[in-house]
Amino acid sequence: MDKIKIRGGNQLSGKIYISGAKNAALPLIAATLLTKDLVKLSNMPILSDIKSLNNLMLELGTIIEENEEIRAHHTSKTYTYQTAEFKSLIAPYDFVRKMRASYYVLGPLLSRMGHVELSLPGGCAIGARPMDIHLNSLEQMGANIEIKNGYVVADAPNGLNGAHIIFPKASVGATCNILLAATLAKGETVIENVAQEPEIADLIDLLLKMGAQIEGKNTSILKIKGVQELHGAEHNVLPDRIEAGSYAIAAAITKGRIELEGAVADHLKAPLNILRAMDIKVTEKENGIIIDARNADMQGQDIMTDYYPGFPTDLQAQFMALMTVVPGASMVTENIWENRFMHVPELIRMGANINVHGHASAIVRGVKKLSAAPVMATDLRASFALVLAGLIADGETVVNRVYHLDRGYEKLEEKLRAVGADIERIKEED
Ligand code: UD1
Repeated sequence: MDKIKIRGGNQLSGKIYISGAKNAALPLIAATLLTKDLVKLSNMPILSDIKSLNNLMLELGTIIEENEEIRAHHTSKTYTYQTAEFKSLIAPYDFVRKMRASYYVLGPLLSRMGHVELSLPGGCAIGARPMDIHLNSLEQMGANIEIKNGYVVADAPNGLNGAHIIFPKASVGATCNILLAATLAKGETVIENVAQEPEIADLIDLLLKMGAQIEGKNTSILKIKGVQELHGAEHNVLPDRIEAGSYAIAAAITKGRIELEGAVADHLKAPLNILRAMDIKVTEKENGIIIDARNADMQGQDIMTDYYPGFPTDLQAQFMALMTVVPGASMVTENIWENRFMHVPELIRMGANINVHGHASAIVRGVKKLSAAPVMATDLRASFALVLAGLIADGETVVNRVYHLDRGYEKLEEKLRAVGADIERIKEED
């Protein structure tokens, strides 16, 4: 298993290109299952999560063509997907276990083919991750659902029907899945209390290009008129707001200046407001954001995660890493996932002063410096938090379990080295 070695202390400066958003790309790939035609997705990030979902698509019978797209400062991928017919309607355990968002195939398979068998993903480091909202909604649309041998077996032999659904929580995954299912259902589906993350608007944009009839983009109520079939389309994936936010914090923690090329400030309002409150200069440009922390007189800030446009849970661990070295006290409250403080013991091993209260709150009291240690995290964003701590710690930090980072941060070492970090990957055979 590879490791990442970081020698802390360098002030970062320069430009980082922000890749396409992982959490947009995954439902977009699943959307291609809704048509027999070719769908072309560009600006796709080069990440192991994308590879995992592509492997499942191949298993189902999709033909995928992959091309490199070389732009001025950056190389991304373009994939074309075509599922003229299915080889299988089963998403096996081995695929879903590796990548939870494999469950995005549920809605499209059920609505196009009337049958799907999907291994239940189970819990993970950050929480139980149930699928009840996805399954109850599909039942309301007329699906017959059973759990057998760890699999969701869903049938709708005569197709799904439109329904009026009210989500008990604004789940991102359920919003995508039910939206995908409703595009080919008979009649109108109304979904209330949907998630409003920018990745959902990106999915709606692709579905509209494919011929779907959807109203209510960027609001909490979606109205979908089912159509008989969808057709091919081309789509450019939006930039990754969580990657951008993570590198914004890298600028802050090293008291540096980083230009986040391609980042969309509008998608990062809550985290950028916290940086501004910390006296960090945030400049919004037409095609990016500049984070300048060189002269900032930072003080602790409280953050509380919430559904979009609230503060994103996927930036909580990274902000906590920053707060460990900012003077004063900061209160960090996690409202989305029940077990998302797994980075705390590792940050404490590096000298941070953090007190966790119950499952949801932590008080961070800024210390003068952190010191390097071998560390590891149990999830993607927590792993980045440890990289951030390593960037300013005295000595050499080794971050283990790099496969977490490879799921969601494209070319991490390359991007950080380009702005002056002393960071390298140590390749190790399994
Ligand atoms: C997505 C993101 C993840 C992010 C999360 C919240 C992807 C691939 N992942 O995850 O990075 O942290 O949104 O912004 O896009 N819930 C239920 N029942 C359900 C579904 C969800 O109770 O059927 C609960 C969850 O336990 C959680 C909350 O709803 O407490 C939010 O989950 P959800 O928005 O569904 O997260 P994901 O789509 O899994």
